[in-house]
Amino acid sequence: QPGSHRAKTSGLHFRGQAYPFRSIRRLQHDAAAEGLEAFLFFPGRRPDQRPDADGRQICPIPVRREATPRFHHQAFLTPQKRKHFMQEIFTAIEEIRKRLGSRLCIMGHHYESDAVIAHCDFTGDSLELARRIPDVDAEFIVFCGVTFMGETAALLARKGQKVLLPAPDADCRMALMSRASAARAVLTELKERGLDFLPLCYVNTDVPLKAVVGEFGGSVCTSANARVMMQWAFKKSEHVLFLPDMHLGRNTARDLGMNEQSWHVLELDENGIRNPDAQPLDRHLLLWPGYCPVHAAYTPDMIQALRRAHPGCRVTVHPEAAPDVTALCDLAGSTSALIKDAARFAKETDGHSLLVVGTECNLVKRLARRHMNSCTIIPLLDGEDALCPDMAKITPEKLLSSLQSIEDGTYRTVVLNDADREPAKLSLTRMLEACR
Ligand code: 13P
Ligand code: SF4
Repeated sequence: QPGSHRAKTSGLHFRGQAYPFRSIRRLQHDAAAEGLEAFLFFPGRRPDQRPDADGRQICPIPVRREATPRFHHQAFLTPQKRKHFMQEIFTAIEEIRKRLGSRLCIMGHHYESDAVIAHCDFTGDSLELARRIPDVDAEFIVFCGVTFMGETAALLARKGQKVLLPAPDADCRMALMSRASAARAVLTELKERGLDFLPLCYVNTDVPLKAVVGEFGGSVCTSANARVMMQWAFKKSEHVLFLPDMHLGRNTARDLGMNEQSWHVLELDENGIRNPDAQPLDRHLLLWPGYCPVHAAYTPDMIQALRRAHPGCRVTVHPEAAPDVTALCDLAGSTSALIKDAARFAKETDGHSLLVVGTECNLVKRLARRHMNSCTIIPLLDGEDALCPDMAKITPEKLLSSLQSIEDGTYRTVVLNDADREPAKLSLTRMLEACR
């Protein structure tokens, strides 16, 4: 229960008992025995929290049980055997794709690994993939991406279509930072204070939250259309609540010419708005204090050091990065904008130029290989920290398990709560209609 079992010190606490971090599973087990989902709280600043995310808010990270890995033994294989094993998996996936034919459509977000992307019928960013769903005829849509993307597909799918997630526990960490009940409490409290806020939520949110947004007259947006959708929202209302990504919200507002005095990052606690009388709630734009741990890890120092080391290099970044970072870059753009920019750069460059791209590493490395004959592309941040740990949960092994479950009839589809379905779909269709 968020709040009531909050960790007061580092380490994990549940029902007053301390658990070392390595015992997350024991904590989960004890919580599950009481019918509870276990939550992790990070009250202090973690390495992925930038100073302006400042650790004020507590980010609940639900701990879900890992899907049982059917191929867990691979960890013990030699590199050669593993290569052979992965080849077998590749072949098995392709055989099932052939057998299922037009009954199956595999979709994948650009942040997935090459080994997963190789099997996808469609790849795209979150807007491109959402737009494609209504035209997909297949009976089964297997969505290689984080949970909210599969849920979006399920909302937009036709009656009778089944959406499967190879890793149902792959929750986007930013999406976990805003919950429907908290958003409703905040919107209601603002209303009671005479402030009618129209909610505009990033697609990186779960279905219950999208339902609250739909119910309060608001819409979804993605990083590719945040500017258009914020303009849409301000045409409808003097006051807009943007959630959950404070960085995307501020970058977009700045892009629209708004200044610091027009917005405020909400301070929240488990009951809603913390100390509301002390906060400037009548600003045009209120921002939920969420962020993406992958993109919020970039710092102005990183950009400055790069520019010193490689004078003349081009630096581009996803708008989930903090505004003090995007301000130092040549372009802040959505995933699709970054891909287009890399293609243009590769075409126009003299062959010796360097492009540094600040987004998820799988994508940046794919761009580097795609354009290796024209230019050099490197990630702004490399290694584990630059990978989205949840996108990475989708592996070829899990994709194969999903496909096998279709063939043997044991598949599990994304199930949506009936009460949330219509208002959540409304918030999505408002976006699709505003951005035709
Ligand atoms: P896009 O909307 O650019 O696909 O981004 C989704 C996402 O999760 C970025 O971190
Ligand atoms: Fe969520 Fe960030 Fe991963 Fe995108 S990169 S899915 S915003 S955690």
